[in-house]
Amino acid sequence: MTTDWTRGYASDIDYTRGWYRELSPLWLDTALALAGVAPPQGGDGAVWLELGCGHGLSALALAAARPDMTVIAVDFNPTHIHGAQRLARAAGLANIRLMEADFADLAEDAAGLLPPVDYVALHGVYTWVGEESRGHIARLISRRLKPGGAAYLSYNCLPGWAAAMPVQYLLNAYGQALPGPKAAAGDQARDLLLHLLNQAAGYFSGNAAASARADRLRGATAPYLVHEYMHSGWRPAYHAQVAEDLAAAKLSYAGSAAWVENFPDLMMTWSQQEMAASAPTRALAETVKDYITNQPLRRDIFVRGPLTLDARQRVARLGALRLVALGEPGAALPEFTLPLGAPDPEISRLFHPVLALLAGGPATLADLVEHLARTLADWGPDSAGHLLRAIAILVAGDVLAPCLADAQIQAALPGVRRLNQALLADSLVTAASPDTDTRLPERLASAVTGGGILASVEEMRALAAHWAGEVVMPTDALSRLARLGVV
Ligand SMILES: C[S@@+](CC[C@H](N)C(=O)[O-])C[C@H]1O[C@@H](n2cnc3c(N)ncnc32)[C@H](O)[C@@H]1O
Repeated sequence: MTTDWTRGYASDIDYTRGWYRELSPLWLDTALALAGVAPPQGGDGAVWLELGCGHGLSALALAAARPDMTVIAVDFNPTHIHGAQRLARAAGLANIRLMEADFADLAEDAAGLLPPVDYVALHGVYTWVGEESRGHIARLISRRLKPGGAAYLSYNCLPGWAAAMPVQYLLNAYGQALPGPKAAAGDQARDLLLHLLNQAAGYFSGNAAASARADRLRGATAPYLVHEYMHSGWRPAYHAQVAEDLAAAKLSYAGSAAWVENFPDLMMTWSQQEMAASAPTRALAETVKDYITNQPLRRDIFVRGPLTLDARQRVARLGALRLVALGEPGAALPEFTLPLGAPDPEISRLFHPVLALLAGGPATLADLVEHLARTLADWGPDSAGHLLRAIAILVAGDVLAPCLADAQIQAALPGVRRLNQALLADSLVTAASPDTDTRLPERLASAVTGGGILASVEEMRALAAHWAGEVVMPTDALSRLARLGVV
């Protein structure tokens, strides 16, 4: 092993504490059903592996919410793993293994450290690490993912990133050349870029996408700047290249973990869809789609030996999908923008009836279809398709989430509560300054969704007070968190 354990990956500053809903098996299985592909066989007792888990928050929430599953999360940064292990211990989670390891060691895994796995998840890792590490990741997946297993990878993609790559280049090159800690160097490099932007440097004045990207650096924190941009191996990739890397591990592209992206008509006009569909390979069809949408990040699911669901199987799987509303009943909806603009009115007219039904508690998609077909006068043959699209859009906007079965929720509640207590204690105890709110976790674990849900500062304060034995005012301050299985 090299003496520089970082392999060019910036590790002298703590990473931001992210939660990612796409990593959960329930989420991935549903995305696969939308794409018409059978989920992994694991079911209860599945083994789930995350590579490059950062602080491990998504893995901890999953372990708490799914005591039936084995959760393994790997990162080579000991600070990340140490913090996650402390939280796991404080929450008494017995089904999670947090491993400090390099992908290189696990790719060969002569010691048999990893069992065969049903899911492998990498969020924001593949195009942040160097080519050597990408090879290790592909080899590791090839050796450990079971037949039918799913691999989720989100990555910076091309051409969506192409125009702004020089922003990363200068930020990284400048930041690496400056002496001293990376955080300060990153700040200085960002100032240089903003100065160039303000001085109307030709690159920026001729390039709106790069200007927008540089402008977004303005409010970025040092940990984000360093971890997002300052790695020597950082390299966005075309989907076709990633698909080729993973083909060596016998993986095939199956669909997108961004549910909306599994509906070509939500992403492209009819003639654009025809152009993409006429590409000589599936990988190139997806790549052509990326030229059309120009998105900078893909959320791909690859499957080892995918099986196609027939229409009846797909309807059965999607009909059983349970959904829960995340906000308070009557809360304003966010503005939804798709690559083609606002959703078609045939779709958006279903938002409110869906939310009205879910205000009474979780319901399955089959329940929703049955209810809407009975109550909407103009429900027609295309309406179920519009409903699926409406659900995918509401889920994308964090208005709805997939939801576990009641028995699973009951089994999850004790561990989820303990994890949330540990998360709040961790943040409140370590913060005794006006800065307190910025130390609060961005999300809390939910026994209902099986992942992390956004909670307001007021809700977190109320929850901490409740757990400290204080009387919480107003008395309904915790009602949403209770409904979502946080407390
Ligand atoms: C951009 S961060 C993403 C972290 C997390 N998945 C997230 O999205 O918040 C990439 C992570 O991969 C880890 N990493 C990078 N190279 C690695 C390697 N060779 N072996 C193990 N972990 C690695 C880093 O320590 C870091 O936590």
